[in-house]
Amino acid sequence: ESVDAPAAMPTADAAQIAAPAADPLRDSARQLFQPLPDKLDKVRDQPLTEARIALGQSLFFDPRLSGSHTISCNSCHNLGTAGADNVVTSTGHGGQKGPRNSPTVLNSVFNLAQFWDGRAPDLKEQAKGPVQNPVEMHNTIERVEETLDSMPGYVEAFAAAFPGETDPINFENMARAIEAFEATLITPSSRFDQFLTGKADLNAQEREGLSLFIDKGCVACHSGANVGGQAYFAFGAVKRPDEAILPPADLGRAAVTKEAGDAFVFRAAPLRNVARTAPYFHSGQVWDLNEAIRVMAESQLGQNLSATEIEAIAAFLRSLDGREPAITPPVLPTSTTATPRPL
Ligand code: HEM
Ligand code: HEM
Repeated sequence: ESVDAPAAMPTADAAQIAAPAADPLRDSARQLFQPLPDKLDKVRDQPLTEARIALGQSLFFDPRLSGSHTISCNSCHNLGTAGADNVVTSTGHGGQKGPRNSPTVLNSVFNLAQFWDGRAPDLKEQAKGPVQNPVEMHNTIERVEETLDSMPGYVEAFAAAFPGETDPINFENMARAIEAFEATLITPSSRFDQFLTGKADLNAQEREGLSLFIDKGCVACHSGANVGGQAYFAFGAVKRPDEAILPPADLGRAAVTKEAGDAFVFRAAPLRNVARTAPYFHSGQVWDLNEAIRVMAESQLGQNLSATEIEAIAAFLRSLDGREPAITPPVLPTSTTATPRPL
């Protein structure tokens, strides 16, 4: 903490300057949030070996996982734009639009479960979804396996990533490798993380925003390492937002749990890098972060925040922008005459 102290304070004595500055705001924040680690060594039982990560990176960027050979994971989770696509709802196979906004893949390994409604327990299970989804990549398990089998480059890469397996090219291992790559998509060292670890301070407006975020009650739902992503809550807990923002047809978790009480329940959105992932909410209907904050305060807390309060919270949320992974688009294996043609 001593680095934050002004270098020369003429009236203070040396003992005061050397003492770490007491910062109750930092102490409270440390109870509620954790800084992101620089890297993980494993996910559940899965070791994150270099061969597995490299294979997963190729798969993430390979449009041949899609039926049309035009759509990759990176199409909707662009790693140049914070792992999201910055459109209302993504365009998938044949120009079709899906029903929900694409969440970022950055830091998704820290969420309690995947998707807005948490219907996939982890990244491995999640990765099997979009490939087969008719509105997204419109492919089949058999065709994906045939595609990967047709390229010597993938035959080698799967053998290296899953040593000792007799038939390493299969859908399960595809999902494992993608998960391994995604587990490297972490954004540490945000200014907020540096604040938590005592390496830097936030400015006055950001500190005000953090205080409001805690005192107004945002932290009841957005806390932990990902500042959200840890639990499920009704969207519209106090006041239901209008139908454009909360479309009546999307029941959220009720479709997963089959419990009527889970209607309009969604995973509290993780807020890391949120300034970079507009538009907001599962409907993708709100483009302005300030407006998203206003909607949240009203719908979740029954509060009308002032413009100054909203600006301060937005400033705090911008301090969550972390160091994004420097990803080089991979050189992908060459197709052969045995590779299935695009649909
Ligand atoms: C959700 C990864 C392909 C659109 C997700 C999530 C992950 C992910 C990890 C959950 C994030 C979270 O819940 O915080 C992948 C991978 C892909 C892929 C590995 C390739 C195999 C695509 C494509 C599209 C797309 C091609 C667009 C056509 C979406 C949408 C959601 C989502 C709309 C939210 C869906 C919902 O909540 O129901 N994806 N994705 N994804 N992705 Fe992808
Ligand atoms: C989503 C901020 C309070 C639960 C969001 C989003 C933001 C946000 C910016 C959109 C993120 C995105 O689309 O990527 C805030 C702020 C709050 C607050 C600033 C305090 C003023 C709460 C509370 C709860 C909550 C108290 C729980 C009762 C949720 C849920 C979502 C969400 C469930 C996802 C909504 C959806 O399905 O689209 N929050 N939030 N939030 N928040 Fe909050």
